[in-house]
Amino acid sequence: METRFRMNFGEELQVGEMLVVESGPGSERFLIRVMDIEHGADADDMNWMTTEAGHMLHMDAERREYDLGAIRDDLYCVGVSAPLGCVGDEFRKTKTIPHHFSTVRRTSIDDYEFLKSSLGDVQVGNLRSGDRVLDFPVGISGKAIPHHIGIFATTGMGKSNLMKNLALSCMRLRKYGFLVLDPHGEYYDGGESGKKGLKQAGMGDALVVFSSRKLDGPYNTLHVASSEIQITDLENLYEFTGAQKEFMESAQFRFGETWLTDINDKSVQEISKALGEGKYHEGTINVVKRRLESLFRFDLISRDPKLSITNHIIDCLHDGKVVLVDTSNMYEAEELLISTVLSRAIFEKNKALYGDKTEFDKIPPVLIALEEAQRVLTEAKGTIFAQIAREGRKFKTGLCAVSQQPKLIDSEIISQFNTLFILGLADRRDREILRNSAKQDISQLDNEIQMLMPGEALIASPFTPFAVPVKIHLYEEYLDKAAADGGPRKTFRKTPVGATFY
Ligand SMILES: Nc1ncnc2c1ncn2[C@@H]1O[C@H](COP(=O)(O)OP(=O)(O)OP(=O)(O)O)[C@@H](O)[C@H]1O
Ligand SMILES: [Mg+2]
Repeated sequence: METRFRMNFGEELQVGEMLVVESGPGSERFLIRVMDIEHGADADDMNWMTTEAGHMLHMDAERREYDLGAIRDDLYCVGVSAPLGCVGDEFRKTKTIPHHFSTVRRTSIDDYEFLKSSLGDVQVGNLRSGDRVLDFPVGISGKAIPHHIGIFATTGMGKSNLMKNLALSCMRLRKYGFLVLDPHGEYYDGGESGKKGLKQAGMGDALVVFSSRKLDGPYNTLHVASSEIQITDLENLYEFTGAQKEFMESAQFRFGETWLTDINDKSVQEISKALGEGKYHEGTINVVKRRLESLFRFDLISRDPKLSITNHIIDCLHDGKVVLVDTSNMYEAEELLISTVLSRAIFEKNKALYGDKTEFDKIPPVLIALEEAQRVLTEAKGTIFAQIAREGRKFKTGLCAVSQQPKLIDSEIISQFNTLFILGLADRRDREILRNSAKQDISQLDNEIQMLMPGEALIASPFTPFAVPVKIHLYEEYLDKAAADGGPRKTFRKTPVGATFY
């Protein structure tokens, strides 16, 4: 599982770089990925390098010049690489090793021809080898959507930038519904100066915006109907005692669809009377009323189901649009409530359509993107999101979980995420959980994942033969370049970098 090759002193090589081993006289080529790099020297004594370094230091102290040129030919580096597969007309997993002393060279775009069929139309960046970027677009396939997507990285490594690229691709394609729930207010116009948002993509009606704050441009206000909110949703947001929960159940039974607004609008006495005098302690009613008060701050919850935005949003998604829901001025509880209500509505609608094959065939896969997904994907909570992760595949509903801390997501739930965008992850436990849940063996990529720079990612998915290294477009730059039809083209030289020895 490891091939070592020697390179001359001074030859540049990076961890993560992909190389080709030309093995034997045939057209057989091995694609390998560099996992580690070591120093080496042609010397009988194992300690020669250390001794020689000491010698250099002595000379330096005496202000004498050391002649590196004299030992140059004895120095080399060893690349430690893992096999990715055999490339030729098609890609095969490697079951053997290259010949001794095969030539190792850098790749050119032609070497990746086989990847084209497994990459999809939702483009996000270019193929990368180490930090060299190739003129070879990389994207994920729409069929990956219902199999869920995870975007994981330490803060500042490029999760939001990747999301904007996904949204841009979806707006261009108009083939997939993409719901972007934005608690940070960064996707509409970039959120800060120098950054751009989905609005600046200028994709017309491919983008539909809902917001609870005032935006500079066309948007719809956010409303959900009282009837769309269930007690379990509220339980995910607040702690309730048994008595408080019982009271809510009884209110829902008594008041029907408007139960939530009724609890808010009516006085404690009125409620108590309606539910049966003395049945519930006034203190209990009061606590629930106060706890739910914040939900009514933004005129978010309406009595009138007709005012609800959920159907409008579902229609847009089924029409292959990107729907942005900006909840950035809300408190976490309200924001999560909106996300929960919308996600459930989408899931249930798709589930209902499943029964009617012709109707179901017509709807596109829908992707629901959640920031800080670790908040709602812990098993204990049993949220609608956990349910979508488990069952969404069948009903064309996928989750796109964005998180800085995948280790906090339940391991069974995270294993449902088939496509993983792994950006730079500093925490060992975060990498470990991804290693265990990825659909490809990424155990050898640990070094590389630690070294990733912002925007550099690995895409692990069952749809590609190996975890594909990619440089995500910097959204702002990409928008600017898009008009000018692509940026500068970079290619690789095809000269040898080394020779394998075992
Ligand atoms: N593909 C990229 N190419 C170049 N630079 C990038 C790329 N992606 C991100 N960056 C740089 O990293 C910065 C942070 O990116 P971004 O906001 O997407 O990170 P994040 O992972 O969402 O962070 P947070 O966890 O704080 O939300 C960007 O402002 C940009 O400067
Ligand atoms: Mg972010």
